[in-house]
Amino acid sequence: MQGLDVGVLKRGLAGSQLAFELRAYALVASTQDLVREAARAGAPEGLVVFADEQSAGRGRAGRSWSAPAGSALMFSILLRPAGSVADRASLSLVGGLAVVEGLALVRGPKAQLKWPNDCLCGGRKLAGVLAESVIGREADQPVVLGVGCNLKWEGLEIPADLRESGTACDLEGAPVDRTKLAEAVLERMAERYRQWQAGGFAAVREDWLEHAAWLGEEVVAEHQSGRLAGRALTVSNGGELILETPTGPVVIAAGELVRLRTPQLRPGVAGSG
Ligand code: BTN
Repeated sequence: MQGLDVGVLKRGLAGSQLAFELRAYALVASTQDLVREAARAGAPEGLVVFADEQSAGRGRAGRSWSAPAGSALMFSILLRPAGSVADRASLSLVGGLAVVEGLALVRGPKAQLKWPNDCLCGGRKLAGVLAESVIGREADQPVVLGVGCNLKWEGLEIPADLRESGTACDLEGAPVDRTKLAEAVLERMAERYRQWQAGGFAAVREDWLEHAAWLGEEVVAEHQSGRLAGRALTVSNGGELILETPTGPVVIAAGELVRLRTPQLRPGVAGSG
């Protein structure tokens, strides 16, 4: 697999708090599907599936996630959290925190977290996290946490809209090694997941807020029952967004934030890919 050294990664993660089992593929439909199938077949927590390329990569809210072969770090991890199913929504925020911390460990771009789990650089999306529950016969409902982080866009044909709204480590002037980043993110994931299991999102909330983007700003929250404009106040102990609206604070459990101000054009990009 391009750029990912599974042997090095296995050795690096050997002493980790999660017993990782690593599988890497050149091309899959979606790493989420492979981990989901493995979960249904009884695979233990800690299974991680990497892919160099996906033909049907998924993003949040029914969107697709596409990345040219070898341009991104893409993986899904199987978690089997104990406790209430309702609390699991905040696991995706934990995933975003692990990505931002992993990037910092390998001296990648300094990224911020846009609730619930986008990782941004200068307002552009560098990485995203997708948390999906495995609904099936099992009572414990495993969670599949997928991560996609753009590493290398220089010299690649990236569609214009993606280049405008997104970014990659090399474009941010902080290229990273795929294997080192994978190790750092998984290490942080194991540690943050342990804390989350012990104390819920409250246990990591302060650290999450330290990396938060857009707090204090006017935003529009797109959620199940529509759009709501207000000022993003904070994120609760349960991982919900607290939005200040003209009629008082509103708690948003799930949704998407948009800001009407768009990121500035990069010098020389002139709005095209
Ligand atoms: C988002 O920002 O909307 C979430 C993007 C998640 C993408 C990753 S790439 C690896 C894993 N497999 C998928 O199909 N999606 C996730």
